[in-house]
Amino acid sequence: VTAGPTFEPIDPVRGLTNRSSGKQGYAIAAALADLGARVTLVSGPVALSAPPGVERVWVETAREMQAAVDAALPADIAVMSAAVADWRVDAVASGKLKKAPGGPPSLALIENPDILAGVSAPEARRPALVVGFAAETSDLEANARAKLSRKGCDWIVGNDVSDEVFGADANAVTLFTRDGGAENWPRQSKAEVARKLVARIVAHFA
Ligand code: C5P
Repeated sequence: VTAGPTFEPIDPVRGLTNRSSGKQGYAIAAALADLGARVTLVSGPVALSAPPGVERVWVETAREMQAAVDAALPADIAVMSAAVADWRVDAVASGKLKKAPGGPPSLALIENPDILAGVSAPEARRPALVVGFAAETSDLEANARAKLSRKGCDWIVGNDVSDEVFGADANAVTLFTRDGGAENWPRQSKAEVARKLVARIVAHFA
């Protein structure tokens, strides 16, 4: 399970990040462990304690997250709920960038690896079930379905983030599956969303 944001440094004191409390991903890790799964939780910087029985691996950048996910394979199930920064700064400054009369610095960005797409690629170590997330502010279904095929995962948990979601304890999601299925789960606690998702996972393997 991946959770939380990644943090991509600009210089020793600044960085690029995403809004993510990690609550939904941590709840999923907890729900999986409650049912006896051996869980590795690859977590970006968040202010949450590790759920009991879960092995947590701290990471900061997308590339560190990718390496930690790789080290956690093989696995039967991958749930990628992290809000990974799409870009990182190409040349991280070794000292703090200073305000200067010439104006602000220009930051050249380069693309981060897509961890979910990498894990979903059809190779020997691909988990039997790969679940991604789609946080969207509009056109949830179209965007989630496009992500499902672009990334090659099996399910996408679609999340409308135009409402209060970040840092909140509740979430409303739709589960989109590769066979065209869509299940709406109305606003409920992130712990309940996690238990529902894990029950669906159990049913899938049964
Ligand atoms: O493309 P987008 O960021 O909207 O996709 C979201 C899904 O992809 C999430 O499951 C997220 O954890 C995953 N992702 C990833 N690596 C990236 C970008 C997104 O694993 N570099």
